[in-house]
Amino acid sequence: MHTIVIIGPGALGCLLAGRLGAAGRDDVWLLDHDAERAALLTRQGVRLTEAGQTSTILVRATSDAGQIGPAELVLLCVKSYDVATSLAGAQPLFGPGTLLVSFQNGISHLDLLTALPGPGLRAVGVTAMGATRTGPGEVTFGGAGLTRLGYQAPADQRAGQRLAQAAATLTAAGLQTEAVPDIMNHVWAKLLVNIGINALTALHDCANGGLLDIPGARGQLVAAVREAAAVALAKGITLPGDPVARTLEVCRSTATNISSMLQDIRRRRRTEIDAINGAVVQEARRLGLSAPVNEDLARRVRELARRAPDRPVGNFP
Ligand code: PAF
Repeated sequence: MHTIVIIGPGALGCLLAGRLGAAGRDDVWLLDHDAERAALLTRQGVRLTEAGQTSTILVRATSDAGQIGPAELVLLCVKSYDVATSLAGAQPLFGPGTLLVSFQNGISHLDLLTALPGPGLRAVGVTAMGATRTGPGEVTFGGAGLTRLGYQAPADQRAGQRLAQAAATLTAAGLQTEAVPDIMNHVWAKLLVNIGINALTALHDCANGGLLDIPGARGQLVAAVREAAAVALAKGITLPGDPVARTLEVCRSTATNISSMLQDIRRRRRTEIDAINGAVVQEARRLGLSAPVNEDLARRVRELARRAPDRPVGNFP
C-alpha cells in the first residue's frame, strides 16, 4: 500500500481522491490549506456524482502535511497561482523517492515546478476529464477523457517506471491514464484551447458555445489561437492537428459549459489569465516575437476582474 496525497480539494482533486479512495488499494489523503474544510471533508467524505448516481467515499483530509509524512505519489491540483505556496506547505510529503504530478491550466507554473525545493521526481499531468465542483467535497464527473503524464525533460529508466506505475494506479481507479514522452506538446495543445475559449467567454459573459454565435467572437478566437500556435511552433512544440479546428470543436462539445475563467469572474475569484493568455505573451517576448491579440485579451480580462465587484453576478452552476 502506497501513500497518495492529493493537494487541493477542487473539482479535479476531489475526483482523484474519490476514485483513488474507492479503489481501496492505497492510503489516500487530501491536503487542504483550510483546516476547517479539511475537518469537514474527513467527516463527510467526498461525494462523487456520476451518471446521476452519488456515492460517498471516506478519505482523510488535513491541513498539516506533517501529519501525513513522506508520500510515494503527490497529485498537485491547485490553481496555477497557488503552486509555489502549496509546494512550500507540502515539504513534509517530499523525499527523494516521491513523485509529484502537477495538474494546472496554462504554462506559468512550469518553471517553478522544476526550480522550487521539493520531491525527487516531478512530472506534469494534462487531463481531458470533465469535473465540476458543486460544494465542499462534492463533485460531478462530467465526462471521461484521457489523462497524460510526462516529464518536462528526458528522464532515466527509474523515473520512467515510476511514472508508468502512477499511470497504472490512476487507470486501475477507473481514470484512463498514459505516461507519454512528449507531455509539453499536450500541455500546449490544451493551452491553445484555453487561449481561445477562457478569456473570450469571460469578456462576452457567455457559455463556451456562445463564442460560435456572438458576432465577432469566432474571429477573435481564431486570431488568439493562431497567434499562440505561432509561438508554440517557434518554441519547437508539435501540435496534434489544427488547433483552431480543435478549439471550435471544444466550443461545440462543451457548448453549455461555463468556462473556469468566467466562473472565476462571476465568483469574484482570481482568474488564471496570467497563466494562459498572459503567459503566451511572455513566451512570445522570450522568443523575440509579439502576441498583440493575446496581450489585448489579457489586459481586458485584468480590467474586467478589477471591475468585477460592481458587476451583477449572473446565474452559474
Ligand atoms: O477551463 C475550462 O473551462 C476548460 O478547460 C474548457 C476546455 C475551456 C472548457 O470549459
